[in-house]
Amino acid sequence: MLGIRGPLGNGFTPQGRVLAIAGGVGVAPLYPLAMKGSVDTFILGARTEAELVFAKYLAVLTDLKIATDDGTAGYHGFVTGVLDEQIDLLSYDTICVCGPEMMMKGILDRLSAAGIAGRGQFSLHRYMKCGVGVCGSCAIDPKGLCVCRDGPVFTGDQILDSEFGHYARDASGQRKRV
Ligand code: FES
Repeated sequence: MLGIRGPLGNGFTPQGRVLAIAGGVGVAPLYPLAMKGSVDTFILGARTEAELVFAKYLAVLTDLKIATDDGTAGYHGFVTGVLDEQIDLLSYDTICVCGPEMMMKGILDRLSAAGIAGRGQFSLHRYMKCGVGVCGSCAIDPKGLCVCRDGPVFTGDQILDSEFGHYARDASGQRKRV
């Protein structure tokens, strides 16, 4: 028997000029925004060219910038390198982000330093059990936010100075470093 419950949670709410940043399979929830014409600039990162998902479609839909860890396509390095060298963050009203947590933390730090953490929208991943905000498995402390109930998309100022980028919980509820 397999039980499925849903849909649960919120989504991205892009407004104005939009920058989307995806790492690896984090492109999945951002691609529909590009399909709707909501994304002006898209930064897509992966370890290597073969792992760039949807790149040829995004190149048609958006101003696409690519980053690969090994330099096999686009910028040689992380998406944060593209941000630092090629992007004027202040010219965007919404920055939608999904990918590995340390990548997202690097982006949140840059938005915070620029004084625009609230323009960021981050899609978080946590180990989930109940899905309705009861078990605490997906909590982001110290505010007691639950990724299942309050997210998975949070604005940057919601998760600033929190466990995000530092700790998550495993299947037994123990805190572990991300
Ligand atoms: S999965 Fe139980 S509180 Fe989120």
